[in-house]
Amino acid sequence: MDYDKIVCNCCQVTNGMIKDAVDGGAKTLEEVQDVTGAGTVCGACLEDVRHLVEQFVKEQE
Ligand code: FES
Repeated sequence: MDYDKIVCNCCQVTNGMIKDAVDGGAKTLEEVQDVTGAGTVCGACLEDVRHLVEQFVKEQE
C-alpha cells in the first residue's frame, strides 16, 4: 500500500494517517473521523475511508 496516497482530499488525509489513527486506538470509522477529520467535509471519500479502517483493524487482530 502507498501510505502517502491521499484518501481524503478535503482534509489531506493519507492512507498512512488512517493507519496511524487505528494504531493509536481508533477502531471505527467514527473514531478515525474524530482523530483525522477524514470524510467529515464532502463525504466523497467515506467508503474508501471505511474500507481502510476495516482493513487496518483486521490487520491488528
Ligand atoms: S474527500 Fe474526504 S471529506 Fe471530501
